[in-house]
Amino acid sequence: MNVEREKRAVAEAAAEYLVDGMTVGLGTGSTVAYLLPALARRRLAIRCVASSPRTEHAARELGLSVEPFGTVSQLDVTIDGADQIAPDGWLIKGGGAAHTREKIVAAAGQFVVIADSTKPVGALRPPIPLELLAFGLSATLCRLHPVALRDVPRSPDGGVIAGYQGAVGDPARLAARLSATPGLVDHGLFPPELVAIVLIGHDDEVERRVLRSAAR
Ligand code: A5P
Repeated sequence: MNVEREKRAVAEAAAEYLVDGMTVGLGTGSTVAYLLPALARRRLAIRCVASSPRTEHAARELGLSVEPFGTVSQLDVTIDGADQIAPDGWLIKGGGAAHTREKIVAAAGQFVVIADSTKPVGALRPPIPLELLAFGLSATLCRLHPVALRDVPRSPDGGVIAGYQGAVGDPARLAARLSATPGLVDHGLFPPELVAIVLIGHDDEVERRVLRSAAR
């Protein structure tokens, strides 16, 4: 297995979904790093929004048109990586601490997940990335126990980054519990309803799992 080759293969396959005139959400991470040059090479007339300053900068350097995500209300397609992919389509994202913006961008378009063969798992496992408000942080951490702060910079929106360390069990139940915790900005559990297509690299082959094909 050559993980870098798999990342490149799925990124290039995802780039082929796009056509002129589309609005496109760009994720964050090492797999998306292969997507950006693949997109730039296609020289399409597309408008992009980025889920992180890192992606925004890299995309602009390659000549892609990146707009602020404030005036665009809907995207045609969003392409992003994942840290873990469960058999039922639940994802964990946020290894790069960008999950809050990534979820907003994913929810705004047909979400295409690109991943190498190390990402599918039998069952999701901790930690679950969390973004927390700095206000009341100690109280929020107590409510979320077991949780650990991560030694990474704050999010671009000022959020503190942590990881939920408890067992995942039923992801829907845990997602509801996390979302209901005051002080939590967002968590890295992404439900299958958010996902349209998952592309998984297996050496030179790309497996395509369609979770939701109809446009919203
Ligand atoms: C960033 O916050 C993450 O959600 C990434 O999208 C995810 O961790 C996948 O990253 P890699 O493509 O680097 O594996």
